[in-house]
Amino acid sequence: MALNSYLDDQDSAIRSTDFDALSCRLSTHLKGYIFDPYIELLIPNLINYKTLSVESQFKSLAVRRNLKKQFFGLFDITGKLDSTNATTAQRSITNTYQQGTLQRGQHPTLSRPQVLKSPVINRGTWLRTYSIDLIVKQFIDQSEIDEPIQIISLGSGNDTRAFNLLPQYPNLTYIELDFEETCKIKRCAILNPSTKLYEPLSIDHTSEDTLPQNHEQFRQIPAELHSSRYHLIPVDLRDLSFKEQITPYMDFTRKTLVLSECCICYLSTDKSNELLAFFKQILEKGVFLIYEPIGGSDDSMQNESVYAGNGNGSFDHPGGSSNISNQSRASSSYGEIMLRNLSTRSIDMPSLLSYGTIASQKQRLIEIGLDANHIGVSDLKFVYFNWVQQEILEKVTKLEFLDEIEELNLINLHYCLIVASWGFKLQSKFTPYQI
Ligand SMILES: C[S@@+](CC[C@H](N)C(=O)[O-])C[C@H]1O[C@@H](n2cnc3c(N)ncnc32)[C@H](O)[C@@H]1O
Repeated sequence: MALNSYLDDQDSAIRSTDFDALSCRLSTHLKGYIFDPYIELLIPNLINYKTLSVESQFKSLAVRRNLKKQFFGLFDITGKLDSTNATTAQRSITNTYQQGTLQRGQHPTLSRPQVLKSPVINRGTWLRTYSIDLIVKQFIDQSEIDEPIQIISLGSGNDTRAFNLLPQYPNLTYIELDFEETCKIKRCAILNPSTKLYEPLSIDHTSEDTLPQNHEQFRQIPAELHSSRYHLIPVDLRDLSFKEQITPYMDFTRKTLVLSECCICYLSTDKSNELLAFFKQILEKGVFLIYEPIGGSDDSMQNESVYAGNGNGSFDHPGGSSNISNQSRASSSYGEIMLRNLSTRSIDMPSLLSYGTIASQKQRLIEIGLDANHIGVSDLKFVYFNWVQQEILEKVTKLEFLDEIEELNLINLHYCLIVASWGFKLQSKFTPYQI
């Protein structure tokens, strides 16, 4: 295989992890762990435009079939949502964001299919979303009501945070960066007049935008989308010349949260460190919020049984990569097993072993110039037992029976959340793991 085409395939495999993440979030939404009405409107549009992004008709049918399965058969083969559901979902969203608050725990409008993700994956996905949301909220709450602030999401994929946050916080600007194809698909989904997802982003849809009806038209549409407070920008994060693309839409003197939710772990360690150093250098006041898997190292987590997947999740989600489970530490580390599983999909995750521990993740940030006193790194097991209020834990544990608590703990030990600030100190009531 020619090198270029091999690299294209690798990038395409990395892009596909976004749909894995989305499918896990849909499952937690339908189970009642999180309330995210936007996800119901986004997915049918994504299925439709994702299939238009594929050149061959034959391949596009296969893509559609896979997506239908990935989203639990809830959306028909044309990617359309049942029209009654669409109307209800739209109404629920309009009410929600007009009131300016998002009520977690409201009921989803889609009927729940029999088969969703396993309880372990749902619980892990909820914890991922919950803990990131906690820090995002703290960052926003620490700004004055009229102080302009920014969030820049690296490899934002089809995250719905911008839809939820922008209507609530008028001082916030949200910038999303991802590969061109991902941005094109998201842009079309946002601009679709039937679901009006452009409204919460303050995008004026009176413009001349035409949505593609076939692959040829899809190829020609732009991938960027802008409003006064929302920017969707196609970039390759491995090439720092993207600075030119973001400069017109960012104010580098504003307090900025740089979010990487399972994104920079797909870059080589050199490229991810260059990227972090780049943001540390261009932003006067910033905070990194990074969530990613940690594979362990030879002297950590010894003699544990490790669970690098149970065949029911996604590659970057707790518990989700293949059928290898309950293997002893003596035979292989969690990270090695996960890497083997990822390689079956032509995906590499270089940081998994290079920064496989909390200490090495912290050291990496010190080496790019952050103050050790302003870096907090916690594994998700610590977060689960120390950050979540008792009454929320009780609510969550009632949602479905989870037999595999040991498995959940082990999986949570292999994900970390990093909060590291410079130029200002993010006051956090959540203490990091002590190292
Ligand atoms: C696992 S998904 C996570 C998506 C989203 N952050 C979430 O948690 O739902 C990883 C995302 O990173 C993006 N990504 C990975 N490498 C990238 C690169 N070099 N340039 C731009 N985007 C990249 C992928 O396209 C994908 O959308």
